[in-house]
Amino acid sequence: MTDTASEPRRVLVLNGPNLNLLGTREPGIYGTATLADVEALCRDRATARGWEADFLQSNHEGALVDAIQAARGTSSGIVLNAGAYTHTSVAIADAISAVGLPVIEVHLSNVHAREAFRHHSFISPVAAAIIIGAGINGYGYAIDQLAGLH
Ligand code: DQA
Repeated sequence: MTDTASEPRRVLVLNGPNLNLLGTREPGIYGTATLADVEALCRDRATARGWEADFLQSNHEGALVDAIQAARGTSSGIVLNAGAYTHTSVAIADAISAVGLPVIEVHLSNVHAREAFRHHSFISPVAAAIIIGAGINGYGYAIDQLAGLH
């Protein structure tokens, strides 16, 4: 871990499948902000908290697992929107448990107001907190929460 008073804490903002299409993807559900807008919001919020932010988006489950594993030793926590893998991926949940870093689970949409298959999350039981349905503001709240945990 790099959690010393002299070094800025780092948050890894990790986005899963189809979140690269934000802005054009079902804007009635996900809004018109792009992934670049999300990342700018996160960078600004992290800076305001004295943190630094790293970003990765992948459409591939294994790449997300690799990123979570690699965060151990480099990041103080993770903001994770695993997209549809939220509802299917034991591997991502296991990776979170394995690294022991605080993970804030974020969803742009209120998944509980949507199809039943979105109501179950494999991430939630291993998440430190969950922010759902606040749009891109949820990412900022997640960084606030993470900063408050440290
Ligand atoms: C999502 C919700 C998921 O159900 C969906 O598969 C996504 C986005 C959200 O941010 O609202 O890809 O995680």
